[in-house]
Amino acid sequence: MNKKIAVIPGDGIGPEVTNQSVKVLDAVAKRFGHQFDYRYAVMGAVAIDQTGNPLPDATVDTCLQSDAILFGAIGDPKYDNNPAASVRPEQGLLKLRKVLQLFANIRPIDTYKALQHMSPLKAKQLENVDFVIFRELTGGIYFGKKELQADGTVAVDECTYSVEEIERITKLAFEYAQKRRKKLTLVDKANVLETSRLWRKVVQQLSANYPDVSVDYMFVDNAAMQIILNPAQFDVVLTENMFGDIISDEASVLSGSLGLLPSASIGNTVALFEPIHGSYPQAAGKDIANPLGSILSAAMLLDHFGLQQEAMAVRKAVEWTLLNGFVSKDIDPVNNYSTTAIGDLVADHIDRNKDSDVG
Ligand code: IPM
Ligand code: MN
Repeated sequence: MNKKIAVIPGDGIGPEVTNQSVKVLDAVAKRFGHQFDYRYAVMGAVAIDQTGNPLPDATVDTCLQSDAILFGAIGDPKYDNNPAASVRPEQGLLKLRKVLQLFANIRPIDTYKALQHMSPLKAKQLENVDFVIFRELTGGIYFGKKELQADGTVAVDECTYSVEEIERITKLAFEYAQKRRKKLTLVDKANVLETSRLWRKVVQQLSANYPDVSVDYMFVDNAAMQIILNPAQFDVVLTENMFGDIISDEASVLSGSLGLLPSASIGNTVALFEPIHGSYPQAAGKDIANPLGSILSAAMLLDHFGLQQEAMAVRKAVEWTLLNGFVSKDIDPVNNYSTTAIGDLVADHIDRNKDSDVG
């Protein structure tokens, strides 16, 4: 298979972790006889520094001409601490999501036996935890009208959702649930928000088309608690943009580290794959960041290409590193391996398993 992959390393630890994914994809290509052509593009603070624009047109073009996008991370503290900045790195990612209509962000929450001791939760609570968050990604308060009144004393962020925006991700979430344990939980704040009541109405209506899927509804404040108290109850969690952002960071605690979680953003055009973590500026350039969130995002990219066996080989290699204690500093502050070393180990494992079982 011959595929074009747009690579956007981004800011902070983005380039370091993305390099490991490219290394892993190269090992996959070599072992399974594929060709992946990478086209590098800039976005975020690095793009502002180079061009003044967090999302240059050339980057959008590169994405549109590719079969998938691998993205690292975005954000730089020099903007976080300057509320008056008119151009911000995050605008690049938000605009790319909007332009490419990447309306569904899929965030699987897996747990690993080898890491259970890392979680602040008791092992018993982590048993049978296996759920997926479907986060709406191109609507809601992130994209509503924004305003700071001239005298600086009042600010506005509007939250808007249309039936169409809710329907398209809800359909995907139901279809996904049908392939899993057939349970869908809508997380909202329908006791307070009008947009949440519209979400409930749309989900209720569409549920008639998926009679094999059981649906429940949970207020987001309760969901935040249930994710900690009884995470095994969830299968597919469907929610709007900002609630999904918040509960997915919370849910990463179940896995053992935020650095482990991958995601896929899909829509009507080319799909984008990115770890859910941020740019972790304190670690940038130190070769200590966890590359597994990015590497597992590359596995989701392979799934998206229909390369299930290849994706499985990547996941098996990742599990092998975890089982053998080849982990980064976020997982083991005492005995740890560098970003590069973990990337090498995963790639080598894929390479060495040439003739052994996969799948
Ligand atoms: C994420 C990130 C982004 C978001 C930021 C960087 C804009 O936190 O992908 O979860 O809030 O969506
Ligand atoms: Mn986030």
